[in-house]
Amino acid sequence: MNIETISCEPIAGQKPGTSGLRKKTRVFMETGYLEQFIQSVFNAIGGAEGKSFVVGGDGRFFNRKAIQIILKMAAGNGASKVIVGQNGLLSTPAASHLIRLNKTDGGLILSASHNPGGIDEDFGVKYNVANGGPAPEGVTESMYEQTCSLRSYKIADADVVDLASIGESKMGDMVIQVVDPVADYKELMASLFDFVAIRNLFAGGFSMVFDAMHAVTGPYAKAILEGALGAPAGTVIHAIPSEDFGGGHPDPNPVWAKSLMDLMMSEKAPCLGAASDGDGDRNMIVGRGAYVTPSDSLALLAANAHLAPAYREGLAGIARSMPTSAACDRVAAGLGIECYETPTGWKFFGNLLDAGKVTICGEESAGTGSDHVREKDGLWAVLLWLNILAERNQPVKTILAEHWAHYGRDYYSRFDYEAVPSDAANALFETLQGQLATLPGQVFAGLTVNKADEFSYHDPIDGSVSTGQGLRVWFDGGARVVFRLSGTGTEGATLRVYLEQYVDSHGDHALDPQVALKPVVSAMLTMTQLEERLGRTAPNVIT
Ligand code: G6P
Ligand code: ZN
Repeated sequence: MNIETISCEPIAGQKPGTSGLRKKTRVFMETGYLEQFIQSVFNAIGGAEGKSFVVGGDGRFFNRKAIQIILKMAAGNGASKVIVGQNGLLSTPAASHLIRLNKTDGGLILSASHNPGGIDEDFGVKYNVANGGPAPEGVTESMYEQTCSLRSYKIADADVVDLASIGESKMGDMVIQVVDPVADYKELMASLFDFVAIRNLFAGGFSMVFDAMHAVTGPYAKAILEGALGAPAGTVIHAIPSEDFGGGHPDPNPVWAKSLMDLMMSEKAPCLGAASDGDGDRNMIVGRGAYVTPSDSLALLAANAHLAPAYREGLAGIARSMPTSAACDRVAAGLGIECYETPTGWKFFGNLLDAGKVTICGEESAGTGSDHVREKDGLWAVLLWLNILAERNQPVKTILAEHWAHYGRDYYSRFDYEAVPSDAANALFETLQGQLATLPGQVFAGLTVNKADEFSYHDPIDGSVSTGQGLRVWFDGGARVVFRLSGTGTEGATLRVYLEQYVDSHGDHALDPQVALKPVVSAMLTMTQLEERLGRTAPNVIT
């Protein structure tokens, strides 16, 4: 097999963000763009020589072509083995599991998660390390450094690999193993949850709609929900992964999964509605007439996890990203376990999970997961909910109400100002940053600031420090506002504003969150003069 060394000039801007390198698909398709990033990844991990990898993606446009390039580059760089999902498909949590199960050196996941797919939409590449989790910041920084000085890449001159047939083949000395993307993941799920109890739940007439949003969880949900668990055919909708996600936006939230939300709020609502995103790591949970915010879902799952076999012994601890609401902190306090607060990005949970400090983690951005893999896991969250519903035998709405009656409710909402000019977003952010020290004591629209800071994380396991992780402002009366610039966008800047108002166990838990949060929103707008500064009268997306 001939290995070519192709000379190149470094490409600017190949800096991994919150979750790998995300760019417009056409950018990834430019000559050498993907190749140079992949070579930089290999260089950053000390070369691919003799190493094994898992490779797969969410099936979006360019997925299969990108995999062919990666296979030839892995062979060109002397890798010993690559495990690939059939047809190039692997959900992010399934890829994480395969890395751990097969003890590979790492994996490459091709996805832009919840962002749309297609030649004019988004593509992405993420490298995961041997624990199955996203590369930590030190590794992503060295990838970026490599991209800045890369002068050549290596690629094997080899034939296109048949990704449709399960089995082993060779490219030079490198073994390529095409695997069923679902089988091992399904077995893992069966080991965590009481499948008999969930089967009985469905057999007893429990109804559900799982919206795979034309993305990667379709085959997984079909095999597990309709196959192993006996849910009626048709429970999983939009189940065939398509290259452009049916022209949609595969983001499981009330805005992008609106048809499911409408169904769940109607007379015809099944007992449970759920959805997952492009690459299968996010989830949305909605009961009959009751949307469960990701922050509440994390708290509820933590409070009830002992009802599922894998968590019967209790949780070691809980972790949440900083902008996630404090609902799970109250559960941790009740259980007498630690709750860790990390920066946004699943990679920050890795050390805590590896050290056995936490069992369950979650983020406001619709991610929940546990120590079974090192990624968030959409279907896992749905199955844990199903296991809890099978044990508790109550509607989601009642479970929520009982939870709030016990712990109080953290009303929560996120405002996203998308694709704003970077200058305007940065200026707003920097102005607020400069004001933090003087905010306490000031009153905005009737609310008094009692504390303000910029979040820095000191990793308790490896001692690393991550600064500049978001601005936090607390108000008297249990309100908090957090400001962050998104790290996953591909156009301009996206300002995220996270709004929260705690109401204790005696308070009113039945309000519309937008009503409960009105005073906090007014205080936030007055404090930042956001509308004038960004030239926006409303956020693009409210979740
Ligand atoms: C990805 C990561 C999540 C993170 C989210 C935040 O989905 O996997 O861990 O919470 O990005 O994205 P943002 O756009 O807010 O930086
Ligand atoms: Zn995702």
